Amino acid sequence: MAEKQISNQQPENDSVGPLSSVKNAHQPEKVEQVTDPLEQSIQPLEPGPQDPPLAIISDIHANYEALQAVMAEIRSRNIEHICCLGDVIGYGPNPLECLDTVIDNCEFTIMGNHDFAIFYEPFNFNTAAENAAYWTRGQFEADSDRVRRNRRWRYLGNMQTRMNHKRFLAVHGSPRRPINEYIFPDDIYSATIKIQSIFDRITHLCFVGHTHVPGVFVPQPDFYSPEDLNNEYRISDEKAIINVGSVGQPRDHDPRASFVILHHDRVEFLRVAYDVNATVDKVRSIDALDNFLGQRLLEGT
Ligand SMILES: [Fe+2]
Repeated sequence: MAEKQISNQQPENDSVGPLSSVKNAHQPEKVEQVTDPLEQSIQPLEPGPQDPPLAIISDIHANYEALQAVMAEIRSRNIEHICCLGDVIGYGPNPLECLDTVIDNCEFTIMGNHDFAIFYEPFNFNTAAENAAYWTRGQFEADSDRVRRNRRWRYLGNMQTRMNHKRFLAVHGSPRRPINEYIFPDDIYSATIKIQSIFDRITHLCFVGHTHVPGVFVPQPDFYSPEDLNNEYRISDEKAIINVGSVGQPRDHDPRASFVILHHDRVEFLRVAYDVNATVDKVRSIDALDNFLGQRLLEGT
């Protein structure tokens, strides 16, 4: 069992993070400067000149090939500001590389349910997701560099669950339940009260991830895929919840990495091809990662 492998590890006494005692994963008392990430108040970004474009990425899921392709696309567009809506890790084969890249490049990162699972404990996860979470913890602890190890645990522990940016609200799941609630496209037909309740909690724009399906929800209610919008949502006074899709595990039947760029007047949806087979091969080579987690990348499901 993956959990036993982790429990058997003996982290140094000054190790930061829940693996200092996996049994006490709900009590990260050894993490410095962490009060309670669920209640942390956030400083908004400093206003920039004429609202420079901001790349918003989400759900990387330890897929380094996808993240590198997205970062290259962002750099090619000379975009200097990037933020992340969570699930940096979990499922995929390169959690350390992905988290380090996010730490070095993103202005803030929201806590996703997989980040939560790895820092605290998996909640409502299926077997494949739970095994991947415990394997990911093991990867964090296996790094012999204490400074790097502690830096990662500290970053995870300090992720906030919502961010009140001057132009939008950012959460991983939904404004009602930021970490775990999904807002599905079908909810506009089957859960209209839920959608209304969610829209009641925002004042204008809200960016989310979590479902790995990009698109725009409006209050009518309605949902528009990027294809419906010709990959561009024009910002108006209307409230909108914008799902940026997933960098590392898209589920809209398009295997390419998904993210958005927030311009001063519009949201641009982008897709970037990457070497999916390289990631799939890595998943297959790691026993703790279910082969399905690779297979689904090929299909974008
Ligand atoms: Fe996710």
